[in-house]
Amino acid sequence: MDKLRVAHISDLHFAKVSFSPLQFFSKRWIGNLNLIVSRKHALAPQRLLPLVSLFHEIKVDLVVVTGDLSTTSLNKEFLKAKEFLDQMQSLQIKVISIPGNHDHYTQGAWKKKRFYDYFPDIQGNDLSLRNDGLAAIDLNASWTMIALDTALATSLTSSRGSFTQSHEDKLLKVLRRIPTSKNILMINHFPLFQHERNSKTLERAPALKALLRQFPNVRFYLHGHTHKHCVADLRSNGLPIILDSGSTADLQRGSWNLLDLMPHHAKVQAFCNHGTPQSTWRPFRQLTWSFL
Ligand SMILES: [Fe+2]
Ligand SMILES: [Fe+2]
Repeated sequence: MDKLRVAHISDLHFAKVSFSPLQFFSKRWIGNLNLIVSRKHALAPQRLLPLVSLFHEIKVDLVVVTGDLSTTSLNKEFLKAKEFLDQMQSLQIKVISIPGNHDHYTQGAWKKKRFYDYFPDIQGNDLSLRNDGLAAIDLNASWTMIALDTALATSLTSSRGSFTQSHEDKLLKVLRRIPTSKNILMINHFPLFQHERNSKTLERAPALKALLRQFPNVRFYLHGHTHKHCVADLRSNGLPIILDSGSTADLQRGSWNLLDLMPHHAKVQAFCNHGTPQSTWRPFRQLTWSFL
């Protein structure tokens, strides 16, 4: 297959308010408070449902979800997200999901890696996303995906991720093993660039950037977390093309990206729900890049 059609969605934030008193022993009460006060009005996962038939109609091969499928890592939230993604899989659309900070929200959820009870581990190149924090899999003859899990449970006021020394060592080995003739699509929840306040960023992002500069065949870096759509071609700085899908569930500014990956070029169309009737999406930007 010469063309691979990938839909990149993120930050779905399926939610369930918890009334359990046990929440006060973890960070969950903060997430619940946030949910009751603001998120419930800003995010509407029901806007996601029409994507199932749309992706089927436009022949999407693979859906990539770059984290924050849940809000406070509750089983019921993971189950809602899983039911949504299962609908796509029942239409023969492959799905790959990685966790965000909201999917390792409490110490308990992070230590037990609860996310992986609902969404499959990614394994390849002797690595497992669940156990090693990264894995590489071939998507087709010309594209390989490297998935990172850099999320972790954090303090009450932090939503940081961490690109650890262990991630760095393993990623270097994997990148060296992939032939330079292969295009690489990297996915992570956290952005490479730190426009946000320090408590929301990726620790050791400069180490990840330095590594990416050594491997120009990493064509794309897909992420979420910021809830702000962004496309940035950083190849003149030795870095990949950055794609932030934004939060696909956002009621006012929901967005996602459609990528057509070919052996020597790629096309990206960005979609949003801004100014559309309930349940519809419209393309608002289209870009094509050559990798020759
Ligand atoms: Fe998020
Ligand atoms: Fe996040």
